[in-house]
Amino acid sequence: MARGGECASQCGCVGCNPRPVNIVIDCDPGHDDAVAILLAHQHADVFGITTVSGNASLENTTRNALSLVELIGVDTPVHSGADRPLLGEPVHAGHVHGQTGLGGVELDEPQRKVASSEASEFLLAVAQEVSDLWVVAIGPLTNVAHAINRDANFASRIAGISMMGGSAGVGNATRVAEFNVWADPEAADVVFGSGANIKMCGLNLTHQLKTDDGLIEQLKDANKPVPDLIAQLFEFMHMRMEELMGERRSALHDPCAVLALTHPGLLTFEQRAVAVELAGTHTRGMTVVDERTTRRRDPPNAEVAYQIDAEGAMSTICAALLNY
Ligand code: BDR
Ligand code: CA
Repeated sequence: MARGGECASQCGCVGCNPRPVNIVIDCDPGHDDAVAILLAHQHADVFGITTVSGNASLENTTRNALSLVELIGVDTPVHSGADRPLLGEPVHAGHVHGQTGLGGVELDEPQRKVASSEASEFLLAVAQEVSDLWVVAIGPLTNVAHAINRDANFASRIAGISMMGGSAGVGNATRVAEFNVWADPEAADVVFGSGANIKMCGLNLTHQLKTDDGLIEQLKDANKPVPDLIAQLFEFMHMRMEELMGERRSALHDPCAVLALTHPGLLTFEQRAVAVELAGTHTRGMTVVDERTTRRRDPPNAEVAYQIDAEGAMSTICAALLNY
């Protein structure tokens, strides 16, 4: 594990947090979740991974998380959680990530088993045991909302929630809604209303950080199993993005929520009031960010990320991946 300026990867990265960061990753792997998990294990102390239905079914996201920790040889416990949102039916993103959630690779069936199927119980327990714990939430916020609903003190006990979700701008699941919030708006509403210290990395930020074919070449040139697997994941995403967006580049959404903690110097944030639209015909799942310049702006409940040093972030991510 890396501490502050001395990266395990010795990548000479910029913007490192000089203090150790204790985290739990709540995720739905997912290509960019996979990168976030690998990045986090190089630069933070990871106390556990919890899985949620999102990019794929809970069964698939959990299997992917187990395969990933096995692949990189860490003993991080994996706890599975919610197989559906607080309300309604689960929605997935097979058109982006493939039916398994990690389209483009055939991962071996993991030998590792889940530590429990009670993600929210685990979140509550680890928050009691570990001081200054951050929850890095990079899937729909269902597990985190369950934890908050079960224990009103959870939100104030943790250091905060660094989330990839929402947008201060364009959407992806709909014109205005980002997938993780859109997949469970009621859960996101619980989180934004919880009083927790929230860092929000939305699409307005994560669209600034995109892979390209040069990164795939760099990873392949290493001739090592883990970088090679990530290269295959990016190849799949580039194929999907070419179909969907007309460009062979893919936004690294989820790693931004890790970098917000491990390399805060790479990002800029503004204090903002964020509300989740639960009702609108065209706007359900939208994060409504108060960007008025008037003094009558609503009181902030989140730090919203607006800018990332994409070059610095990409070289930090690349070095972390090559270090496996
Ligand atoms: C988010 O949705 C998922 O598809 C990605 O893993 C990311 O967490 C981007 O909208
Ligand atoms: Ca995700």
